[in-house]
Amino acid sequence: MHLGRKTLSKFLIENVSGSHEGAALAALLVDVAAAVKAIAALSAKGALGGVAGTLESVNVQGETQKPLDVLSNTAFVNTFQLGGLVAGVASEEMDDPFPIRAPHTRGPFLAIFDPLDGSSNIDANVSVGSIFSILHAPGQQEPGLDDYLQPGTRQVAAGYALYGPATLLVLTVGRGTHGFTLDREVGNFILTHPDIKIPADTNEFAINTSNERFWEPPVSRYVEECKAGKTGPRERDFNMRWIASMVAEVHRILMRGGIFMYPRDTKDPSKPGRLRLMYEANPMSFIVEQAGGGASTGRERILDIVPGQIHQRAPVILGSRNEVDRLVRYHQEYDAGTDKSYDSPLFSERGLYRP
Ligand code: AHG
Ligand code: MN
Ligand code: MN
Repeated sequence: MHLGRKTLSKFLIENVSGSHEGAALAALLVDVAAAVKAIAALSAKGALGGVAGTLESVNVQGETQKPLDVLSNTAFVNTFQLGGLVAGVASEEMDDPFPIRAPHTRGPFLAIFDPLDGSSNIDANVSVGSIFSILHAPGQQEPGLDDYLQPGTRQVAAGYALYGPATLLVLTVGRGTHGFTLDREVGNFILTHPDIKIPADTNEFAINTSNERFWEPPVSRYVEECKAGKTGPRERDFNMRWIASMVAEVHRILMRGGIFMYPRDTKDPSKPGRLRLMYEANPMSFIVEQAGGGASTGRERILDIVPGQIHQRAPVILGSRNEVDRLVRYHQEYDAGTDKSYDSPLFSERGLYRP
């Protein structure tokens, strides 16, 4: 029992529902929590739920869908459609946004989401998650594509669910980042992590080093310096993590600091990074900034990007403030041609990122 501890509903009543719009937003976040509970129950069944394996279908990203990708998408779409609080939804798993039409009621918001993040991890029983971003809808009319293409600074709320050993819901409405843990037996989310703050410094970095040969020089410089540890320019040892679930990665950073990088690379010149701006980079950047961290492409604050497409990708560097600032500085020095680190013996020996 969690007598005296704050449920998500109580938190929303006290902190969000003060105005007419706030009340609608609070109700929408309760709907999100309902979809999350359904996906948590489904994913926890594992192979017993009949949702293992891969489907024939391919999403708009060109990625093969898993049954749980599709079921999670349906859980969100159905919840939003019946909830009467959004005018339209857009998802990683749907080519185009989906407008809410009669007999369903349109609401004042737009919901954009990644229904299942890290889905390559499902069959290995490694943590997965969901990510969501809430924007204002244009007005009474049915939203068009342009209405979704708002920069991340205009998000009304954002959050993620982490389906790990415990199920967590972490969200922001622009007044700090707060974490709730699902009490499975009772079915309530309980406020367990109020006002999360990311430590400004860290000894832990996360990047997929199999892409190293495609990185830009400032990223190679940063990672080389971390790997050089005590004997390198950073004069301390770093540890590395890579879960391949952005949600799990961001959650670790919220809990103990760190830097997460999926930077711009030259692997596929048509893609400026791997992660999707509107339902991965933007909501996570909002959450991280509200927890005192930084979120940049290396050259621009992620939340300032004006989107051109619903499924567009963006380079992502986020986490502990001082490390993100350092990597942004490395990009500035590289672009300005003032990066003197190429002369360092550490890098001339290795010759890894000589332009
Ligand atoms: P999704 O499962 O929604 O397609 O997203 C997976 C993302 C992200 O969660 C993770 O950080 C990254 O892809 C992993 O990419 P690699 O397989 O290249 O490591
Ligand atoms: Mn994802
Ligand atoms: Mn996904």
